[in-house]
Amino acid sequence: MSNKSYNIALIPGDGTGPEVLNEGLKVLNAVSSKFGFKLNYEKFDFGAERYMRTGETLPDAAIEDVKKFDSIFLGAIGHPSVKPGILELGILLKMRFALDQYINLRPVKLYPGVETPLKDKGPKDIDFVVIRENTGGIYTGVGGAVQVGTPNEIATQVMVYSRQVVERCIRYAYEYTRKRNKRKQLTLVHKNNVLTYCGDLWVRTHKEIGDKYYQDIKQDYNHVDAATMWFVKSPEFYDVIVTENLFGDIITDLAAMIQGGLGIASGGNINPEGVSMFEPMGGSAPKYTGLNVINPLAAICAGSLMLDTLGESEAAAAIDKAVSNILASGKIKSLNAGQMGMGTKEIGDLIANSI
Ligand code: IPM
Ligand code: MN
Repeated sequence: MSNKSYNIALIPGDGTGPEVLNEGLKVLNAVSSKFGFKLNYEKFDFGAERYMRTGETLPDAAIEDVKKFDSIFLGAIGHPSVKPGILELGILLKMRFALDQYINLRPVKLYPGVETPLKDKGPKDIDFVVIRENTGGIYTGVGGAVQVGTPNEIATQVMVYSRQVVERCIRYAYEYTRKRNKRKQLTLVHKNNVLTYCGDLWVRTHKEIGDKYYQDIKQDYNHVDAATMWFVKSPEFYDVIVTENLFGDIITDLAAMIQGGLGIASGGNINPEGVSMFEPMGGSAPKYTGLNVINPLAAICAGSLMLDTLGESEAAAAIDKAVSNILASGKIKSLNAGQMGMGTKEIGDLIANSI
């Protein structure tokens, strides 16, 4: 029992975002009363609708508002009538940078009863975590273009990393690996055979920090192209992976598929010293909006991740266990929208009641 109270900013967002967030909240409320802490919510209307109405994505004043919260819980952002990139850059990336959410945490876990496209692999084989650096690299936007539209056009987009940005991510990853306490292995994923400057910086930092402070953790390295092969062939090889931003973006989508798809994949954009944001990885799925057919499990798991990061690890584990048990029971027919054998709300009820 913690007797604590947390203020959570809610961004339901677009499409099916509000529906899945509601089910996430149902489950959060169930664990909070069981484990004796309080969750206070305040809703924010950032997303396509507000953008189309006002032209605003995430105003600077809003950033100051959400900084006062303990955490942020997001449904989904994206709408077919808004040009791709506007909301992604204007809301999601702006938030990451403004709140310095420098870690992207993506647990990759195949729950019992969930189908994976990997033949002969089961829950004991697919259970690892990807820690993606979340504010540096190519995402910083350093670069430019000249003579645009001419045959001589030149464009650059530069992978930028400082020692400080690499080191804080690597340190977080070692701490996480130690706390997770499974195989105690931290695999750095990069491409240092070609990216000789940035790769070298990551490799040296991984080794130096590991040798000095984390001798209990096994150090390991994969090139990113090879890692995509191992994800499919031998996922059981991994415990915790740490990687730079764009590589992490790519490999975590592959990872989502081997854990059963976007219906179950959740993630956190974390500032370990500040305000973090948690979200289901699936998008706003516009065509399923309001039909009670979208899978809320990813949002429910994102809630668990949020509680774990807030320090309510027992409550987080209780959600994880409930999800695992319900999936093992076979009551949910599929993780795909419309094929679940029950509705969005019914899955939320099922998990909440089993807590
Ligand atoms: C993700 C997304 C974002 C990213 C997009 C929407 C900007 O793909 O969270 O992985 O590239 O990081
Ligand atoms: Mn992505």
